[in-house]
Amino acid sequence: MKRKQTILFVDDNPKNLGILGTVLAESEHSLYFAKNGALALDITKNKHPDLILLDIMMPDMDGFEVCRRLKQDPLLAEIPIIFLTAKTEKDDVITGLKLGAVDYVTKPFNKKELLTRVNTHLELRAAKEELQESLAEKEEALATKDKLFSIIGHDLGNIIYGLKGFAELLTDEEIQPDVEERKDYLQMLNRAATDGYDLLTNLLNWSRSQTGRLQANPTTLILQDSIYQNVNLQQDKAQRKKINILAGVNKNITVFTDENMLDTVLRNLISNAIKFTPKSGTIRITAEPIDDNVVEISITDTGIGIKSENINQLFRVNIANTYGTDGEKGNGLGLVLCKELIEKCNGTIGVESEVGEGSRFSIRIPINA
Ligand SMILES: Nc1ncnc2c1ncn2[C@@H]1O[C@H](COP(=O)(O)OP(=O)(O)O)[C@@H](O)[C@H]1O
Ligand SMILES: [Mg+2]
Repeated sequence: MKRKQTILFVDDNPKNLGILGTVLAESEHSLYFAKNGALALDITKNKHPDLILLDIMMPDMDGFEVCRRLKQDPLLAEIPIIFLTAKTEKDDVITGLKLGAVDYVTKPFNKKELLTRVNTHLELRAAKEELQESLAEKEEALATKDKLFSIIGHDLGNIIYGLKGFAELLTDEEIQPDVEERKDYLQMLNRAATDGYDLLTNLLNWSRSQTGRLQANPTTLILQDSIYQNVNLQQDKAQRKKINILAGVNKNITVFTDENMLDTVLRNLISNAIKFTPKSGTIRITAEPIDDNVVEISITDTGIGIKSENINQLFRVNIANTYGTDGEKGNGLGLVLCKELIEKCNGTIGVESEVGEGSRFSIRIPINA
């Protein structure tokens, strides 16, 4: 059992409470006692026990009334109730069950019977709770997926629509674009294709991670190659915002990691740095060994920065339309993925940022197998 379960005993006869307490003292459960109905309601509201053993005959408020009131409160109605009844009072048993009790135990108590029934209902309760939790998790995952697919569908749709537009311009017999225009169109086409490819890569990785199919396949890589290649892929985007990317990485540094995963992480972090840095900013990329086993890659920008209250949320799933300083579109998936990918590679990711000054994202990955 994961969590300690709690039982509330309600009986106006202290002797009975004593017996119940002794019988169940050996079990792992926490016990509460109430000697009247009003107290029972109070304790139930405050402590939310997992099971209530409820005497019927009590002065002021009898057990049936306590049961009725509990069943009316949606927050408490789910707590299972076992009535305590005298052997002779068959009608009471029926009334109790009709009121929503799950079971009854007859007095005088038989120790074994009492323990068995209590444990059965506690186990049922725990199983039910587990089921409800996993259902809630599934519902949340489904809602996230729906949101994701609607955004991706929309964004990817726009990108493909753009590709089609440029292709039409380039092949239109009437327009006959000149060499300069053709070059511009081709550049825009290339940009749209890159955006589409990056978006698809993120989506694919995300779907793999959601279905447990994300497997790292680490090899030894020359870090400088990985970083320079991924910088080159984004130079065009950076130049359009007149952002200078300064990447200085020692050519002797190697890392032991999954190449595709590292590429995806670098692309996301560099693309974010460009996206959230206004025109004429600077992005610095460095890599330094921390010790014999770990290298730290950091990507520092002079961008808009991140509010400290938002830092903790960055790596959590929060899919929504986002926009860069030049209106660049996003969906909030990149950093969540980066964290998952880096962790698959036995690495870590971190961030420091100051609003208006810039941000520094750093990843640490193993050097050796
Ligand atoms: N370098 C950065 N500078 C400022 N804010 C950033 C930076 N990187 C990420 N962020 C913030 O974190 C959010 C999540 O980033 P990410 O998961 O990559 O999603 P997206 O790029 O699609 O918006 C961004 O929308 C942005 O608000
Ligand atoms: Mg991003």
